[in-house]
Amino acid sequence: MASDRQRCILVTGGAGFIGSHVVRHFVRKYPYYHIINFDKLTYAGNLENLTDIRNAPNYSFVHGDICDLGTLRALLREQKVNGIIHLAAESHVDRSIRDPFLFARTNVIGTLTLLQAAREYWDKQWEGKRFHHVSTDEVYGALELGDAPFNESTPYSPHSPYSASKASSDHFVRAYHDTYGLPVVLTHSSNNYGPFQSPEKLIPLCIHNICENKPLPIYGNGENIRDWLHVQDHAQAIDEVFHRGRNGESYNIGGGNEWENIDIVKLLIRLVDEQLGHPAGHSDKLITYVADRAGHDLRYATDTGKLRRELGWVPQHPFESGLRETVQWYLEHAEWVKNVTGCAYERYYAEMYNDK
Ligand code: NAD
Ligand code: DAU
Repeated sequence: MASDRQRCILVTGGAGFIGSHVVRHFVRKYPYYHIINFDKLTYAGNLENLTDIRNAPNYSFVHGDICDLGTLRALLREQKVNGIIHLAAESHVDRSIRDPFLFARTNVIGTLTLLQAAREYWDKQWEGKRFHHVSTDEVYGALELGDAPFNESTPYSPHSPYSASKASSDHFVRAYHDTYGLPVVLTHSSNNYGPFQSPEKLIPLCIHNICENKPLPIYGNGENIRDWLHVQDHAQAIDEVFHRGRNGESYNIGGGNEWENIDIVKLLIRLVDEQLGHPAGHSDKLITYVADRAGHDLRYATDTGKLRRELGWVPQHPFESGLRETVQWYLEHAEWVKNVTGCAYERYYAEMYNDK
């Protein structure tokens, strides 16, 4: 890897939910790195997520598309980029069911384009270079109730167009390592929660809808299970793997914190009602069972033993306090929520319900 003072890291998707936490983490912790946030600013990208660091001397923003090879070539060369942390993606499973081609374009072609730009610019001078691909636990498919959690050797078995596109991008990352020698690492995280997550995803959607006294849509019977991790614990894990992960290796990241969806929703009702001063049980009536997500994966759970053993990472945010602080953050940032749930968002949701 490059010496500390020579690092210029391109973070793709840095205006999104996880990307903005990764950018903030690196900008604050490594003032001698130059961090470039490269983002297309789709509906999911929002520079308001980064107002606190936007004037930092070691931060810059470049508006662009990861499918644009010419722009990437020029940027890597001009800025002498020697590290890439790749988060840009279409990330929402329900949207992928409606528009799989968009997911193939961004997640597969976009990743391939970025790999090619890195390969050309680094031109076999691999020393000091690193391409970190941020993937998901969803590539491993779905677990049954008694199954052992996913580990790094679990065979790929994606079910949704989203997870199929992420799996495909992972294969290209490995192919560039095995074929051309590109120095890569991959991480597979479980479900993240925390500030700045778009209210299209379960936790912020429920917080928003409880505040607005709107239905809380539970897909199927609500018994699907996810493993929740605080987004800042994810950012810290990316830091460890980017700097110290072994070349060509994958690392799972997760909270060891499995919850059925219905229990998460009930916990959110309790926390939001408490913070709004409502009597206990006030918002229970909002729970609404709706048609299941097509191909809905039953359960995700991640074995993070490799990351813990090799790099000493452990999550720092206990779930209930992390969730309470997240609820509080959303209640205190009504303006942010209003801006990201504008007309386009409302229209999208209306269409989604018509489809179900
Ligand atoms: P997000 O949807 O909040 O943000 C995605 C960002 O990518 C946005 O800023 C968007 O503008 C940008 N983007 C989209 N298309 C682009 C393009 N063509 N060129 C440049 N930028 C583009 O996503 P997120 O939830 O923060 O997820 C970030 C990454 O982490 C994704 O790769 C996702 O697959 C992965 N991941 C997410 C989770 C999770 O729980 N959210 C868990 C595991 C892995
Ligand atoms: O596991 C990692 C993945 O987690 C990431 O790769 C994805 O980018 C991220 O979006 C997330 O995927 P999920 O599909 O698990 O997250 P989502 O918040 O959409 O849904 C969580 C669970 O809640 C899932 O079982 C579906 C259910 N759900 C979701 C929504 C939006 C509902 O029951 N109702 C809803 O309205």
